[in-house]
Amino acid sequence: MPNVVVIGAQWGDEGKGRIIDLISEQVDVIARYQGGNNAGHTIVQGDKKIVLHHLPSGILREGKLSVIGNGVVIDPKVLIEELTNLQDTGYKVNCENFKISDRAHVIMPYHKAIDKARENLQGKGKIGTTGRGIGPVYEDKAARRGIKVAELIDPESFEARLKQVIDERNLYLSKVLESEPLSFEEIYTEYVEYGKYLKDYVCDTTKLLNDLLKDGKSILFEGAQGALLDIDFGTYPYVTSSNASSGGACTGTGVSPREIQSILGIAKAYTTRVGEGPFPTEISGDLEVKLRQAGKEFGSTTGRSRRCGWLDTFALKYASMVNGICNLAITKLDVLSGFEKLYICTGYIYNGQVLSDFPSTYKVLSACEPIYEEMPGWDQDISDAKDISELPTEAREYLQKIEEHTGIPIYTVSVGPSREKIIFLKELHS
Ligand code: GDP
Ligand code: IMO
Ligand code: MG
Repeated sequence: MPNVVVIGAQWGDEGKGRIIDLISEQVDVIARYQGGNNAGHTIVQGDKKIVLHHLPSGILREGKLSVIGNGVVIDPKVLIEELTNLQDTGYKVNCENFKISDRAHVIMPYHKAIDKARENLQGKGKIGTTGRGIGPVYEDKAARRGIKVAELIDPESFEARLKQVIDERNLYLSKVLESEPLSFEEIYTEYVEYGKYLKDYVCDTTKLLNDLLKDGKSILFEGAQGALLDIDFGTYPYVTSSNASSGGACTGTGVSPREIQSILGIAKAYTTRVGEGPFPTEISGDLEVKLRQAGKEFGSTTGRSRRCGWLDTFALKYASMVNGICNLAITKLDVLSGFEKLYICTGYIYNGQVLSDFPSTYKVLSACEPIYEEMPGWDQDISDAKDISELPTEAREYLQKIEEHTGIPIYTVSVGPSREKIIFLKELHS
């Protein structure tokens, strides 16, 4: 398999975890490049359901190297819990098959406290974050007051760095956000232990990945969140704080764009979004309830109900332009069984005008009306289909329309959450 970046092409939760788990068989290394434990990537194996927040989705495959790149932000407590849970379940996770970048930034207790306090203060204007401290930790990285993994694992550097930043963060918490300040001693004592635990997994992953590439090994770059949550190209300000788009794969690992041959976009056969922000194809009432229940659309990280709507190929085309998507993996087609009619959004109307391009501002996007193409639905349960020929004509036509409107060939279609519930359609671009 070529070196491939796998990204969410919508607002996250497209099924990246299950597709990466499947195709990671064909690569040597799986490297996460951005985001933190705001991500929840689900993998279903038999009757086991595993939700990964920090660990790359190739971790369940024997003989593969999993890497957390420099662009990721790490909550050490959550990472350690995830590691030990997997080990207790019998999966092999050790310092041979799992590495953490020494350049990655650490999510500290004050990041989580700031995230939550801000959302509470904002009330109606909140972003609807996951409350994991993601915005504040990336802010600190940009403001050059972040704490890196290299410092976390070195008690002397950690103490010095924490001393340097804690007073200012506490002032901000208490005076601006009217929240409780945090204790240096408590944080230091707790986090220095996390550092000791993680030390053996830590290395310069940029050097490691580049050496592996020189040796002819292949890498799958795992994106978290989705194209429309990207800090630059998403529906700002209702976005996450990192580059979830394919460009983030290079800055988040230290691998050159010249090494990447393919970009795979994952998209649900419909659309969901968690948290606030514009969502032109959102539906409401009984239909939304039906779609949410059929798709079990409740967040893998926070358990919140996901907002549901029709497939938006206008937004997908935009995601494709920004990310250079070569192929699509369409997930959850099985969820659409039993809908009499389906709708595909092909464009937007703003102020009575048909837009030629996806809007770049919140103001315009939130006032857009979708243009729909109506399609007949199908009744059959398709979850046992193994080949495109086993799908009802209406389902095949639905897929054809996606290709037609986006101009992107479909690599796979999935019809259930587990590994084998997949139909391969076209070759992956290389
Ligand atoms: P991710 O964040 O992109 O990895 O996606 P999540 O794991 O947050 O959410 C996707 C959900 O859909 C998970 O519960 C998956 O088990 C489930 N899922 C993935 N693919 C399919 C599919 O083809 N059919 C069905 N019914 N469920 C799926
Ligand atoms: P995966 O990788 C869906 C959303 C939050 C909120 C916004 C900002 O599982 O697809 P943050 O905590 O990042 O500051 O929240 O982004 N969000 C996600 N939505 N899937 C995710 O990850 C998400 N990660 C963040 O709901 O609207
Ligand atoms: Mg998810």
